[in-house]
Amino acid sequence: MLAGLPRGATKGPCWEPEFVNRLHQVELIESTAVTADVTRLVFSAPEVAKLARPGQFLHVKVGGEDAFYLRRPISIHDVIEDRMVLLVRRVGYGTNWLADRPVGSAIDLIGPLGTGFDSTLAGAQSLVVGGGIGCGPLLYLLRSLKVRETPGTYIVGGRHAADLFSIEDFSSVAKDVLIATDDGSQGHKGLVTELLASELNDTSRKYEAIFACGPEPMLKAVSAIAAEHGIPCEVSVEALMACGIGVCLSCVHKAQVDGSTEYVRVCKEGPVFNTRSLVWGN
Ligand SMILES: Cc1cc2nc3c(=O)[nH]c(=O)nc-3n(C[C@H](O)[C@H](O)[C@H](O)COP(=O)(O)OP(=O)(O)OC[C@H]3O[C@@H](n4cnc5c(N)ncnc54)[C@H](O)[C@@H]3O)c2cc1C
Ligand code: FES
Repeated sequence: MLAGLPRGATKGPCWEPEFVNRLHQVELIESTAVTADVTRLVFSAPEVAKLARPGQFLHVKVGGEDAFYLRRPISIHDVIEDRMVLLVRRVGYGTNWLADRPVGSAIDLIGPLGTGFDSTLAGAQSLVVGGGIGCGPLLYLLRSLKVRETPGTYIVGGRHAADLFSIEDFSSVAKDVLIATDDGSQGHKGLVTELLASELNDTSRKYEAIFACGPEPMLKAVSAIAAEHGIPCEVSVEALMACGIGVCLSCVHKAQVDGSTEYVRVCKEGPVFNTRSLVWGN
């Protein structure tokens, strides 16, 4: 049974006008490889840009007009005026197809979709934690925190310095950028969660919210650290998706609702959830 629909959710079916209005053809205007396997794509997408909120995603058609593949969910990395920026990590057919599109291509997408971050949680100081391609939705979140005059501190982790990307972009919107690499090739040697814990143990600063996106083990650890310090925490989770619009139930995640364990849809009630309600390990 679906949970009691957290913040931002509506119960409507897929054919509600909301989704019809969110079908778009957008033009790819820039494509840049930022690491060996991550490509930054910029689209001219005024209608999507107008509606997009930090933490939402786009459901992108891959394989061309006549191909029949499931759409692939990709987070909104940034919105700059009427342009929409995505970061795509090559892991399989769909992400390779997308990263290989030449500039000038028309791309079919549905979006923005899902429930994003609640930046009103941020208060005066917040920590924004990213790991790997999980930094995807965090640039636009940090930009919106800066616009609200409550810029966040960005803590990012990767295996090596070569895995880190867009640090200059993050520096331009964050109050501070703290880096951890597993091999010590840049910043703190160790896990990003160690940096998070030491930042929270520094009593000269008082953080009011934590936002995170990255691999699930990292999100679980961030969630436990936030609970230990009594700080509200929101995380963006991933799930395999089919419809992307709340109908097929292929993306469900366990959550606590009114004291019982139920299922929420990552594509609709999420992908961003308050860690108070998430049940890990399903
Ligand atoms: C809400 C959301 C936001 C996302 N944002 C981004 C983003 O900003 N940039 C980005 O590059 N990717 C993002 N992803 C992941 C991306 O959707 C998948 O990597 C993509 O769908 C894989 O498609 P593919 O055809 O390239 O790979 P496939 O050939 O389908 O799969 C290749 C491998 O990747 C694994 N995989 C496929 N989908 C997922 C998934 N959703 N989560 C974890 N592993 C998966 C498969 O199990 C397989 O091992 C996001 C996923 C979600 C749910
Ligand atoms: S992907 Fe279909 S309900 Fe979420």
